Amino acid sequence: MFLTLAGPRASTCPLPFLPSQKFLTIRSQTPDAIALRSSEPNIPGYSLANNTKLNTFEDLGQDPDRARCFAGAMSSTSETSLDALAEHFDWPALPPGATVVDVGGAQVHASLHLAKRFPTVTSAVQDIAEVINGAQGNLPEALKDRLRLEAHDMFTPQPLQDLDVDLLRYVLHDWPDKYFVRVIENVVKDMKKGARIVLQEHVLAERGTLGMVEEMQER
Ligand SMILES: C[S@@+](CC[C@H](N)C(=O)[O-])C[C@H]1O[C@@H](n2cnc3c(N)ncnc32)[C@H](O)[C@@H]1O
Repeated sequence: MFLTLAGPRASTCPLPFLPSQKFLTIRSQTPDAIALRSSEPNIPGYSLANNTKLNTFEDLGQDPDRARCFAGAMSSTSETSLDALAEHFDWPALPPGATVVDVGGAQVHASLHLAKRFPTVTSAVQDIAEVINGAQGNLPEALKDRLRLEAHDMFTPQPLQDLDVDLLRYVLHDWPDKYFVRVIENVVKDMKKGARIVLQEHVLAERGTLGMVEEMQER
């Protein structure tokens, strides 16, 4: 059975990935996963529910349709958060030909948003092969020369040299600290002097500063 996701880049996804019995099982395993206090990425509720030693993304990567659907769901993030990304960094100030790398860029939606808005921005969008290989169809003809898609595992050395901007949008929160440090290390050593890392993430309010319901929703 298939459902069609609403939105500008609507895609057809097998139902089991969408809110369903399986999804609820994953959520119900989360307290057990937290109780294990592991600092490894292969012990979230997802892995316990799916009875796998793979982490969420490795497991999704076993099935390109599910990987593509997950990445498609990422594309449904709000225009407001994309506008925030566009407005809180001085993209037009980048010199022509500057190298922006969008690590874990899923189906290219963030880089596409930037490329449409800023005619001088050129990006290399990287993700695991199962995700990025399905993204070519999202590129309008007119932007193909400014958006390059590359299969790359961010836990391995960055293949691009002389980077100007490393964009990590909603990527680091998926990983325990020692893993996201590895991701940063892999890009920092290939960046130019004066280059920037642009992070976009959800920031939690300090404990006890919100009402009980808002705090539960946030965490
Ligand atoms: C939460 S999504 C964020 C996607 C996108 N940056 C956005 O702003 O919506 C995390 C992304 O990291 C990618 N990812 C997971 N493991 C990866 C790896 N080892 N190398 C590269 N990308 C990876 C996933 O495929 C997914 O697209």
